Amino acid sequence: MTAIRIEPLSDHSPVQLPDPLPFGRIFTRRMFLQRWDPTRGWHDAAIGPRRPLDLDPGAQILHAGQAIFEGTKAYARPDGRVNLFRPDANALRFNRSAERMAMPALPVESFVEAIEALVRLEHEWVPTGEGSSLYIRPVMAATEPTFEVRAAREYVHYVVLSPAGPFFASGFQPVGVQVAEEHIRAARGGTGAAKTPGNYAASLAASERARANGYQQVLWLDAVERRYIEEAGAMNVAFVYDGREIVTPALSGSILPGITRDSILRLAPDLGYPVREARLDVDAVVADIDAGRVTEVFCMGTAAVIVPVGRIGHRGTDHRVGDGNAGPVAQAMYRSLTDIQYGRVADPYGWTRVLDVQVPVRERAVA
Ligand SMILES: Cc1ncc(COP(=O)(O)O)c(C=O)c1O
Repeated sequence: MTAIRIEPLSDHSPVQLPDPLPFGRIFTRRMFLQRWDPTRGWHDAAIGPRRPLDLDPGAQILHAGQAIFEGTKAYARPDGRVNLFRPDANALRFNRSAERMAMPALPVESFVEAIEALVRLEHEWVPTGEGSSLYIRPVMAATEPTFEVRAAREYVHYVVLSPAGPFFASGFQPVGVQVAEEHIRAARGGTGAAKTPGNYAASLAASERARANGYQQVLWLDAVERRYIEEAGAMNVAFVYDGREIVTPALSGSILPGITRDSILRLAPDLGYPVREARLDVDAVVADIDAGRVTEVFCMGTAAVIVPVGRIGHRGTDHRVGDGNAGPVAQAMYRSLTDIQYGRVADPYGWTRVLDVQVPVRERAVA
């Protein structure tokens, strides 16, 4: 990337974070932004005050929905420095999403450099409470004004940051998920493996319905046979067999390949839990839950890391998982992964990137 221009801020008041800290509703003062067109490629990279986008009402993002995004986090370490977790994996997924949505590629190092430079400048916003982190949201969107339906010729790439408390205010509490019967999230050949806003817009009717029925998340089935388990809400999902083996749906082309999922698949065997990727028939899994063979279910994603599932609603019946509480495998996965993310233990996988900044002491939690 060409050098990032740093623009001055007008607001220099001390950073103050509310307590409790909500998830994803507060933003830091600065943002990164650059633009793309076919002649200049990516250009005008700058970090400056966070401000509204200068967007023509005819911009393609607002009509054709040509956009992609990512989600990753910065974590306060016990020594006050800051960890990024696998931002290169997000960069690779960003580019896979870009390719699927006919958008320009962004070099992995530019994606990571934009995040690093912004988080360095905004490090005072990295929160330190249990389960808190600085949520990082890179976005690419088509800005060219036209009603023609074709790949745009102008794009913006920007990054905004949000100091965030735990995703679920209730903490590490089991949630209920309801199998979606009417709606599907994604079909093979569609955009399910890309992180593009339309996938999320299309999921809202089902998640609102699940919520009205008393469940926190939707359990998505495959689009063709409506039989094989894909994801849970905007998270990947895993089933623990006999208290030990972690089984997760194999990537099908319509599942978003989660970085948390990938990390668990690599971490769990080292902790003594074998893993398996498989095609999981919902009826068989529910029967295994009822028979006590599936002892735990949990969701995996950057926002909440690990979310235990206490019950699954399927065709009008509620199936309790184990005793309905968070189980030992989900707890072990949460603890082991967050220990690496927050730098509480050494990282044998080379996943973390340490930024040599100091989070303000007034905010530092007891490790
Ligand atoms: C649809 C969907 N599935 C799974 C995930 C989990 O992915 P990750 O672990 O990379 O956050 C996400 C979140 O990014 C998602 O939006």
